[in-house]
Amino acid sequence: MTQPDQVSIREVGPRDGLQNEPPVPAEDKVRLIDALSRTGLARIEAVSFVHPKAIPQMADADRVWAEAEKHPGIRYSALAPNLKGVQRALDAGFAEIEVVVSASQTHNRANVGRATEESVAEFGPIAALAHERLASVEAIIATSFGCPYEGDVDPARVAAIVDAVTEAGADRIAFGDTTGMATPRRVDDLLDAVDTDLPVLMHFHDTRGTALANVLTALERGVTEFDASVGGLGGCPYAPGASGNVATEEVVHMLHDMGIDTGVDLDALIAVAETAQDLVGRRLDSGVLWAGPRTRLTPKP
Ligand code: COA
Ligand code: ZN
Repeated sequence: MTQPDQVSIREVGPRDGLQNEPPVPAEDKVRLIDALSRTGLARIEAVSFVHPKAIPQMADADRVWAEAEKHPGIRYSALAPNLKGVQRALDAGFAEIEVVVSASQTHNRANVGRATEESVAEFGPIAALAHERLASVEAIIATSFGCPYEGDVDPARVAAIVDAVTEAGADRIAFGDTTGMATPRRVDDLLDAVDTDLPVLMHFHDTRGTALANVLTALERGVTEFDASVGGLGGCPYAPGASGNVATEEVVHMLHDMGIDTGVDLDALIAVAETAQDLVGRRLDSGVLWAGPRTRLTPKP
């Protein structure tokens, strides 16, 4: 297999993870972001600027971001669902913003209260505003590999959204496996359908145990950017079967063993996964967190 020398991992635990956990205090969120900033991670999605009624867990985004350490060299980003959220993110000082649009009509309505086409149409004004403020904007296409309400999503539909947001000024594209419906076959199908010159990132949830296989498949197809959340944080304790993102330490562990550099100190990251576990007060479902890296030996009997 051809493989890259380096992979860029974006840690999304503070946003995607914590938005799906019972609310934790702002100071704990700051503590998590600060700890992640010291692990060698190159990118951290810190908060989202959404309606506080939609996601109460992110209601303190301004405070969290104001208090978090900003390490030079780390690309911090924020997620926004609409123009108002992008404005808030820019005002808070973010230079990288992710705007989410769902390929599935039903999911887009459930998530942001409007049709996919309306979200796509807002992309032009969003990109113009972001660029005017010297920020970049990424389109995260949620439900790219399937929708919990509608089932399969046609890769051609996803590809058409890629074209539309590219035309509107998107700087990067992320494919979101929002509810863990991706499999290696679906990753191949999607990458066969999409034709883009923009940087591409994959965002997998490990709901059905396929996330690392999906990472490997995307890697073989030339993708070198992945979202992951420390400890596999996330996955709404109230929604049966929902699960967090692929655990960052599991991705880093696999890539390092393959000889691929991530810049991350794995032991430091595992320590942060332990902190994350304390913050949410439940056992996090990450094999590398529990067993340690494969190089950690058990005392001889
Ligand atoms: N942040 C804070 N407030 C916002 C906002 C944002 N990003 N976008 C809109 N609002 C406010 C409006 O100003 C308006 O306020 P007002 O009543 O005081 O005038 C109010 O919300 C209603 O505006 P409207 O455009 O009708 O929004 P809505 O009620 O249809 O909600 C979203 C739309 C997108 C704001 C909401 O569904 C949302 O925040 N969704 C986020 C979902 C999410 O984060 N999912 C997980 C990540 S993929
Ligand atoms: Zn997600």
